[in-house]
Amino acid sequence: MKILVTGGAGFIGSNFVHYACRERPDWHVTVFDALTYAGNTKNLEGLDESRYTFIKGDICSESDIEQAVADCDAVVHFAAESHVDNSLHGPWAFVNTNIVGTYRLLEAVRKHNKRLHHISTDEVYGDLEPSDPKFSETTPYNPSSPYSATKAGSDHLVRAWVRSFDVQATLSNCSNNYGPYQHVEKFIPRQITEILGGRRPKLYGEGKNIRDWIHAEDHSSAILTILEKGKIGDTYMVGANGEKTNKEVLELVLELMGKAPEEYDSVPDRPGHDLRYAIDATKLHNELGWQPKYTDFRGGLQQTIDWYRNNEGWWQPQKAETEAKYKELGR
Ligand code: NAD
Ligand code: TYD
Repeated sequence: MKILVTGGAGFIGSNFVHYACRERPDWHVTVFDALTYAGNTKNLEGLDESRYTFIKGDICSESDIEQAVADCDAVVHFAAESHVDNSLHGPWAFVNTNIVGTYRLLEAVRKHNKRLHHISTDEVYGDLEPSDPKFSETTPYNPSSPYSATKAGSDHLVRAWVRSFDVQATLSNCSNNYGPYQHVEKFIPRQITEILGGRRPKLYGEGKNIRDWIHAEDHSSAILTILEKGKIGDTYMVGANGEKTNKEVLELVLELMGKAPEEYDSVPDRPGHDLRYAIDATKLHNELGWQPKYTDFRGGLQQTIDWYRNNEGWWQPQKAETEAKYKELGR
């Protein structure tokens, strides 16, 4: 089995590549990645070089992606612009990669008749009030940001290509991931690296927003399960019952790093900030028998903190530029 992993040198894509190489020793993985600011070939270090090939390519380029798709059996599609704050600042890259890029990939998959698994997010459903039921596969789409709107657009394209052209695809919508290799622009790594750098972490608004955290390795095991056992055309929600307010997460990071709970700064809120995301993963449990392994958030967070502490050489080169961008945004 030869699988093509678009976006495989980013956070979740590279976690998936490590997981797939470990769990499926007879597979060959081709990582296809444009290496934007979010991609880093260091994320693939430690893998046996005979197990994978790296192609630097852009999913928006018809020729780049077609060649790579022609040469594989199945595609797992992670490549995307992924950060909400960046999408508020510069939405074009999101429209281009998330919508045009997914279109190019779908056309290549259609032409060469390959199996596709499309990775999406729970953010396509908009947000929930605290008392609302969790998102499920039948929740109507209601995206709020340029990021979630372009991911929603990509999901619609995938479903249309399944129905209109018989493309053999599955989809999954996952909640917020944490774990090693996550860019320092994202909430958890930003706070950990601020503390490691001797500065105070930054909480948007009052920190009442709720996210449903899942470890990236559990997301990887869900993807592998869907790729192998999922029903073509179906969508699966992926989540691990990890709902927490941002303030709760930040206070736990502070505690695990030996700081007092009030040692953070409140910064101006993100415009249009979604209040709550929460996933009901019953279908994935009942139909495909998937279960998460990281059910102890405290333990998973401690492991993540240790990873950033031990890999300063990985994150330090991204840090100054990231904080300069936040400074411009006033956050
Ligand atoms: P990331 O930003 O860390 O990685 C994205 C990768 O895609 C990078 O390596 C980047 O270089 C690559 N890329 C970007 N544009 C490209 C292009 N035009 N051609 C080829 N490669 C390109 O993102 P992530 O957090 O790992 O997210 C991966 C996927 O998972 C995305 O589709 C995202 O929407 C989805 N997702 C993320 C989360 C989360 O919590 N991070 C949750 C649910 C779903
Ligand atoms: P983020 O990691 O950007 O993921 P998303 O917005 O896609 O859910 O942010 C997670 C939550 O943390 C979100 O509610 C915004 C908040 N946040 C902060 O409070 N401070 C920060 O410095 C960042 C980056 C995010």
